[in-house]
Amino acid sequence: MDLILIQSQEHETLPLAELKAVLKAENIVSEIEIITKGLIHLKNLKKDGYINSYQVLTKRLGYTHEILEVITIRDLDDLNGCSHETIENLFDGIFEDFKAIEWDTYIEDDFCVRLKRFDNVPVDTIGFERKLGGMIKVITKATVNLDNPTSLIKLIISENKLCLTTRRFKLDKKHFREVKPHKRPFFYPGSMDPKLARGMVNISNIKEGHLVLDPFCGTGGILIEAGLIGAKLIGSDINWKMKNGTSINLEHYGVTDYELHHLDVREMKLVDKVDAVVTDPPYGISSSTGGEESESIFYQFLDSIAKNIKKSGVITIASPDSLNLDKILNELKFELIERHEIKMHKSLTRVISVISKKD
Ligand SMILES: C[S@@+](CC[C@H](N)C(=O)[O-])C[C@H]1O[C@@H](n2cnc3c(N)ncnc32)[C@H](O)[C@@H]1O
Repeated sequence: MDLILIQSQEHETLPLAELKAVLKAENIVSEIEIITKGLIHLKNLKKDGYINSYQVLTKRLGYTHEILEVITIRDLDDLNGCSHETIENLFDGIFEDFKAIEWDTYIEDDFCVRLKRFDNVPVDTIGFERKLGGMIKVITKATVNLDNPTSLIKLIISENKLCLTTRRFKLDKKHFREVKPHKRPFFYPGSMDPKLARGMVNISNIKEGHLVLDPFCGTGGILIEAGLIGAKLIGSDINWKMKNGTSINLEHYGVTDYELHHLDVREMKLVDKVDAVVTDPPYGISSSTGGEESESIFYQFLDSIAKNIKKSGVITIASPDSLNLDKILNELKFELIERHEIKMHKSLTRVISVISKKD
């Protein structure tokens, strides 16, 4: 079985890194082909467990907009530069072939056809949607429903591929709007964007039941995302208002498997070592460092965390690009697994690093 993923293009490397990490954490075996920027083909997913894999990806991925099941894929000669007439003729031929598809297996009550173009391919979107929709309607006798169809057929056209797909499971697009910092019952400035928080959790190879720690929990943005994918949580903050606020926010989003501490990270001594640490330490711009130099905070935090994480565990941290994190990692014998840079505004680039302890 094959899937097509339409990914966010708001970031260069995170969407693909997130996908790879979730496939690994969830033991989903598949070959990844990048068709073009933002368009991914997941090939040869095992039939056994396929529906579960599809659902898991739908539930977890933050930087993916849509996941679709492949009906058929065709290679195309480069369409850019072709005349409209050539493209019309080519697609008339392809649509003729589509008549042989067992459409009844893909259409339930009513349906709608949508076309998505990549690479600025010069196709007539509405014209092709109508043509394919009309053909499916004649074959299946199903009704067209443009607003809220039970079945969605999506035609995706890039420079070199045509993917005919259907959607089995819808991503919850509302989630990342509803969980934005100002929508939470407890708000404090400086909280991380929830999509980035989910991305950081996902690239940390976390899966259901893992114990995840955020020792600078603030308003709980990272813990909410880790909790929603089924992790057990430990959060702490030097500020008791943040600790209490995190509890209010976690409960609000239905996350209940957590413990919270009012604690300076430098004094952390956990009973159980954690599987992963995902955190956004303060670096003196919008969040409080209690007057400490951010280099010293990062050094002391990593030194303390090393004693509280399992040998196989990973730490994912956000830091400003002005901080020489590599020097600290070297001194404390951590190694870098992967790194992503996010330009926030003119004077701030956030660096997301995934690190682990050296053997
Ligand atoms: C950037 S904020 C975290 C934001 C959080 N990710 C969120 O989404 O709300 C950093 C937090 O670190 C806390 N903090 C500062 N120094 C600390 C220390 N030494 N130990 C523990 N927490 C500390 C601050 O109180 C603040 O809430």
